[in-house]
Amino acid sequence: MTREEYLKLTSLLAAGSLLPTHLLAQLLAEDELKRSDFGKDFVWGTATAAYQIEGGWNEDGKGESIWDHFTHYKKGKIKTRENGDVACDFYHRYESDIELMRKMNIPASRFSIAWSRVLPQGTGTVNQKGIDFYHRVIDKCLNENVAPYITCYHWDLPQALEDKGGWANRDSIQWFEEFVDTISKAYGDKVKNWMVFNEPMAFVPLGHLIGIHAPGHVNFGKFYRAVHNVVMCHGAGGRIIRKNVPEANIGTTFSCSHIDAKNDKPANVKAARRADAFINRLFLDPIMGLGYPKADLPACKHIEKHILPGDAEKMAFDFDFIGLQNYSRMVVYKLGLIPIIHFANVPAKKLGHDMTEMGWEVYPEGIYKLLKKYAGYKNMKKIIVTENGAAFPDENIGGEINDTKRLQFIKDYLRQVLKAKQEGVPVDGYFIWSFMDNFEWAEGFRTRFGLVGVDFETQKRTIKASGKWFSEFLKQ
Ligand code: FCB
Repeated sequence: MTREEYLKLTSLLAAGSLLPTHLLAQLLAEDELKRSDFGKDFVWGTATAAYQIEGGWNEDGKGESIWDHFTHYKKGKIKTRENGDVACDFYHRYESDIELMRKMNIPASRFSIAWSRVLPQGTGTVNQKGIDFYHRVIDKCLNENVAPYITCYHWDLPQALEDKGGWANRDSIQWFEEFVDTISKAYGDKVKNWMVFNEPMAFVPLGHLIGIHAPGHVNFGKFYRAVHNVVMCHGAGGRIIRKNVPEANIGTTFSCSHIDAKNDKPANVKAARRADAFINRLFLDPIMGLGYPKADLPACKHIEKHILPGDAEKMAFDFDFIGLQNYSRMVVYKLGLIPIIHFANVPAKKLGHDMTEMGWEVYPEGIYKLLKKYAGYKNMKKIIVTENGAAFPDENIGGEINDTKRLQFIKDYLRQVLKAKQEGVPVDGYFIWSFMDNFEWAEGFRTRFGLVGVDFETQKRTIKASGKWFSEFLKQ
């Protein structure tokens, strides 16, 4: 099929034709992307996170997390006033969900461990029922031939630790070590693929500087301290997994956006460098052994005040892979009024490209540019795209979800990943966010990212056209 034919077909479908999704998936599978082009060692999967899918928020001894607390008590923070108390009910439905992954030919599943399920108070007494739950999830994955990829921390700190100062408290390094030690000892015999953190550049500023995510602080001091403690936890967590699981494949994940200046005015070009230092390098650089990016981001001096003797050597860790997570691009200009960063974004709707329901610009070349950028780090061994995907309004036509825009998005981004790989970038995997629609943090359940649609009233799962395409693609 030519690209013109393909676009015509997809726009016809988007306009409401009743072509069943399996036919759509079949037609779309005829295009040029082939699994084999990526090589046989390339890992394919989907990603989720505990708070976004599990529910069972207080079952079997689970403690309260900052997201339980935030959604229950900080009214007005979640646009739809919803919470993750039940979410996708994965806590009770993990078996059928993992069976569905296998039916969809998905080789790997990235998921996170809820810290407060295994250590309800964050440290101290271990909750055996919480430990057992993830054993059952892991065993089910292994039985269904779905490789488990564990993220230790995907944003749900135990509230008991937040009450002691959370990530802004230097003790968080020991708390985190205890957590990682507990789970890597529990699951290390079965699970070889580990990620220490999910996106520090999201949970640290969103939760401590602008307050739109849990725990909801707007506090510069907490932010600076949390940055350094979380940087230290990357190395600390990595070293513990290395000790407990010697053959582990250890990574950690970073959100990133390709950044352009609005125009070539020197002040805007400099603002773009500052934005890059803040958005893309603040955590990655120290972890790759380069220290904080203070030449491009003067605000780093406030973070460096928290470096104690002996920290410098422990900030870096020799990760086996770095998880690159990309959704969009940023176009920035200087705005001195904004503290710390002194830049602002041109709104995506002014950039002339399609936008997702999150208001993010669709910009596939961005992932190619970021892969090239990551490959430029001297110690970069391997990159895995650990999240990429899109939210679009899904229309359920006769029980079929013809999400042509999501499908197009994934394919356009994948082509760029392939281009980078063919040019020698060591990219060795791609995980779609997300396996199924879920609780999208401050957005609630409204924005849907899944390959599988979830009816949150009935918990019915429906494989979308994108999911059917992905399973056909994986079958090749
Ligand atoms: C990422 C998060 C993930 C999900 C996607 C849409 O930043 O890691 O939990 O919310 O965005």
